[in-house]
Amino acid sequence: MTTNDKARRVWDLPVRICHWSFVLLLPALWWTAENSEMGWHKRLGLLLLALLVFRIAWGFVGSSTARFASFVKGPGAVLAYFRGTTSHAGPGHNPAGGWSVVALLLAMAVQVTTGLFAGDPYDGSTGPLNDLVRTMTADTLTEVHEFTFNVILALVALHLLAVIYYSAVKRDRIVPAMVTGSRLLPAGVTGMEPVPAWRAFACLAVGAALSLWVANGAPPL
Ligand code: HEM
Repeated sequence: MTTNDKARRVWDLPVRICHWSFVLLLPALWWTAENSEMGWHKRLGLLLLALLVFRIAWGFVGSSTARFASFVKGPGAVLAYFRGTTSHAGPGHNPAGGWSVVALLLAMAVQVTTGLFAGDPYDGSTGPLNDLVRTMTADTLTEVHEFTFNVILALVALHLLAVIYYSAVKRDRIVPAMVTGSRLLPAGVTGMEPVPAWRAFACLAVGAALSLWVANGAPPL
């Protein structure tokens, strides 16, 4: 940090709302499953589905730092970043962090999707799409649903270690940036480029519509 650094916008509101909702929803989903609150487990799971669909759509049409194209880089860029032969001065995720975002979103998507088909109608609760698949398939998807939760835990642990490293060792104020949306950047480095708000509402409509359709058992359209 230098005296020339300037506070700039780095994360838009939708990215921050999604992020902190994930932080609240994951423990809530775990707790409701552990305590047999399956009605709430399903409702919160459908909310997570809507948010994930929103975040993925926003990754294509959202503001510059939300877009996958701005932070998903090839292996060369990731290696160069780890070796320190390139630095990351701009707003948004660095080349390594970009892949952790993809991994977290993908793991949550697998978790939610398998949950839709999971369960056994003769023995406990079922996801809203359970009767669209055979019992054996539902059993396998239920196992994947249970296993993927451990994958998410491992990815979140890695994520938190990275956040602690950047905050405590590199003295980079990335957590306040995920709260307020702004961060100090070197003079001359531009911040996030926003897009019109209607795009966020369109992505939200897609996420909500898909989640409601699935909640109703995905009837023919
Ligand atoms: C208290 C716990 C957490 C803290 C303090 C935290 C902090 C952060 C920070 C600072 C970033 C921005 C990283 C950067 O500057 O590149 C970030 C990004 C992200 N985090 Fe977390 N995180 C937490 C928990 C979680 C959890 C539980 C999940 C979901 C499983 C998660 C998923 C993500 C995702 C997907 C991004 C990328 C944001 C986006 O582009 O949409 N985080 N987190």
